[in-house]
Amino acid sequence: MSGPARVGLLGCGNVGSALARLIDEHADVIAARAGVGIEIARVAVRDVKKSRDVRVPPDRFTGDPLDLVRDPDIDVIVEMMGGVDPARELITEALKSGKSVVTANKELIARHGPDLFATAAASGVDLLFEASVAGGIPLMRPLRESLAGDRIRRVMGIVNGTTNFILTRMSDDHMSFEDALADAQRLGYAEPDPSADVQGDDAAAKAAIIATIAFGARVNVDDVYREGITSVSRDDIESAAILGYAVKLLAVAEELEGGISVRVHPAMIPVHHPLASVRDAFNAVFIEGEAVGELMLYGRGAGGGPTASALSGDLIDAVKNRVSGAKGATIGELVERPIRAIDDSESQFYLLMEVADRPGVLGAIANEFGEHSVSIKSMEQRGMGEDARLVFVTHRARESALRATLEALRGVETVHRVGSVLRVLGDED
Ligand SMILES: NC(=O)c1ccc[n+]([C@@H]2O[C@H](COP(=O)([O-])OP(=O)(O)OC[C@H]3O[C@@H](n4cnc5c(N)ncnc54)[C@H](OP(=O)(O)O)[C@@H]3O)[C@@H](O)[C@H]2O)c1
Repeated sequence: MSGPARVGLLGCGNVGSALARLIDEHADVIAARAGVGIEIARVAVRDVKKSRDVRVPPDRFTGDPLDLVRDPDIDVIVEMMGGVDPARELITEALKSGKSVVTANKELIARHGPDLFATAAASGVDLLFEASVAGGIPLMRPLRESLAGDRIRRVMGIVNGTTNFILTRMSDDHMSFEDALADAQRLGYAEPDPSADVQGDDAAAKAAIIATIAFGARVNVDDVYREGITSVSRDDIESAAILGYAVKLLAVAEELEGGISVRVHPAMIPVHHPLASVRDAFNAVFIEGEAVGELMLYGRGAGGGPTASALSGDLIDAVKNRVSGAKGATIGELVERPIRAIDDSESQFYLLMEVADRPGVLGAIANEFGEHSVSIKSMEQRGMGEDARLVFVTHRARESALRATLEALRGVETVHRVGSVLRVLGDED
């Protein structure tokens, strides 16, 4: 490569304009680290007339992303448009024509990552996607490179800042879910339609990518079991706090006997666990490796600046590799590993029940737990009167056993209501 590396940007919105500014403002440092300067040669957007806070000459903007991708003068593509289509076709075209690609697109990688990795490998170019999971937090590179020789047992992450912000407000300010969500929307942390965040879909896409990279397995976003935070109540959070737990939305990828488990759900974690201290819109990923033990990566999981930071690291890598004629670390052969159903996963459980306040009730309840081999770790009674509220925390049990216990408890005459049930992680496991 002679002269600066010519980069084509697909998208110049929140993230794309932050990257354009970063390339401009950190030009010297980037050139020193990449081995050559980086020039934004062309930018594809939907509306070429829109004014943008970037120092890129207007004549470099185009409304035709395919033309940009096919431009033989472009060396590297950075995709920041989002969505599966047309990003998938554009990236495939770029890779096949020998261009390295950097992307922030979690949806695309979580659905079509393995095919795109194979296309990149066949063309001998890089496809890098650090920014697609947890924004500015370096996670893909540590998993792919720094921990490549270790055996990862489990990754647990707070990978959605919107839901973490909402849960923090519910916990610290005793807000209802609805009020905390409205606050998040007012401050720009939640979209007007928050469903992808609060129902766990955004975290599920990230969980699929994490599992793919951590276990070298093909994991599609549709394989990921998910529950969002819409049914978490202020009561649950206060009850958890009394017991010494915080409620977080976790993306979990772990090895289970005979396969892997990949899931997203709210969980109670002990307040002394490092993930419990992750507040507001911050993200963190807690990794457990056979040799390395436990480690945690923490930072901003979204926002133009943090995401542009991750993209710029990938971009420098891609350019450096082109300068030296090398290719970065590959994902390697992805294997098929059975994705175990949620019923096969194990955790402790928290259960809240309303029961008749009379003798013999506890015996009947304990009997159902025992019948299904779910062992009770602790029990507290809250409130007196006609109905008593009982709060149980179990020892580690299989999800299927807990479901069978719940079914049986609903048939016990003195159990008037089985209220909240939450998984408890990071305590006994
Ligand atoms: N925002 C974050 O904090 C964050 C964090 C991590 C990852 N990401 C990922 O980064 C990507 C971009 O996010 P963003 O927040 O920057 O989105 P955004 O603000 O909506 O920007 C999208 C950009 O892509 C352009 N675009 C969309 N469809 C196009 C098409 N068919 N042809 C040409 N241009 C097209 C848009 O053009 P116009 O400007 O003309 O509309 C816009 O410039 C997404 O994959 C997202 O998941 C975002």
